Amino acid sequence: MTKLLEVEDLTVTFRTGDGDVNAVNGLSFDIDEGETLAIVGESGSGKSQTAFATMGLLARNGRASGQVRFDGTDLLSLSQAKMNKMRSEKVAMIFQDPMTSLNPYMRISDQMAEVLTLHKGLSKRDAIAEAARMLDAVRIPDARARITMYPHEFSGGMRQRIMIAMALLCQPRLLIADEPTTALDVTVQAQIMSLLGTIRDDFGTAVILITHDLGIVADFCDRTLVMYGGQIMEEGATTDVFAAPAHPYTKGLLRAVPRLDRDDDVLQTIAGEPPDMSRLPAGCPFSPRCDIVRPECTATRPAQEAFPPERRRACHAPLTEVTS
Ligand SMILES: Nc1ncnc2c1ncn2[C@@H]1O[C@H](COP(=O)(O)OP(=O)(O)O)[C@@H](O)[C@H]1O
Ligand SMILES: [Mg+2]
Repeated sequence: MTKLLEVEDLTVTFRTGDGDVNAVNGLSFDIDEGETLAIVGESGSGKSQTAFATMGLLARNGRASGQVRFDGTDLLSLSQAKMNKMRSEKVAMIFQDPMTSLNPYMRISDQMAEVLTLHKGLSKRDAIAEAARMLDAVRIPDARARITMYPHEFSGGMRQRIMIAMALLCQPRLLIADEPTTALDVTVQAQIMSLLGTIRDDFGTAVILITHDLGIVADFCDRTLVMYGGQIMEEGATTDVFAAPAHPYTKGLLRAVPRLDRDDDVLQTIAGEPPDMSRLPAGCPFSPRCDIVRPECTATRPAQEAFPPERRRACHAPLTEVTS
């Protein structure tokens, strides 16, 4: 069966005055229709660039290679025009900062209606009615009256809802949410996540949730992919990864999550710094910070190893040593 999205050996490189930055290094993963996948990892792991490459939104100095197949079509080789169409109709993305997608000088009604008149051929009047319905769906109070307001007239949480509504206007089959709640306070965060959950369930939208916050992944995502240095450290069903992390990096990330069922006075952070992506070590990118590092870790990059149930990891240490 074809997967909804299949990413194969994706590599993203940026040209800079100081040499090449290798943001994503041979990444492969897929996502099924209606599934929810978390991509987690510290800041700088290459999560956003994975999403931008998928959406054809890399910065000018960036190049992507490999394959990104959406429903069988390779997105990396699509023309600009076809990619624009794909982006408005099939795959949508929401960002940490809603103002990335909202035009500050346009009324919400006009921005939302434009999407529908352009891509769905609706009349302006029908488009505005549909836009208001979508604002209702993301629980903007009094949507019909407030739709004529400008973005700055809404709070941060409300703007995030509007951006979600805009992303959903054409009923995309895949929604990529890049740190959608990072800039919001905790109660609003919870509301937005619950909203995303409802949308996924009601529309059957597949969701890739990108976050550095493992706390929000546990409730929301079927599968979790852990990234470091632009590579996959491990992947598996979220419950399995959380119950028995198979990579020292994942263990470190989990130790840094506050938990109610554990008596930890001080959260442990992972010692050391994320790698400089223009000077990645030859072996495992995590080796300089790993507390069970062995000689082969600094010499060769570990291969992806599959193990039951439907998991994989890239680590030289035996699984038993990591899980013990
Ligand atoms: N336009 C660019 N030029 C050079 N380096 C870049 C550019 N955009 C992103 N990077 C680098 O790519 C790496 C991965 O970034 P990113 O995917 O944004 O990380 P994450 O989303 O996991 O925090 C970082 O080292 C970042 O500095
Ligand atoms: Mg990011």
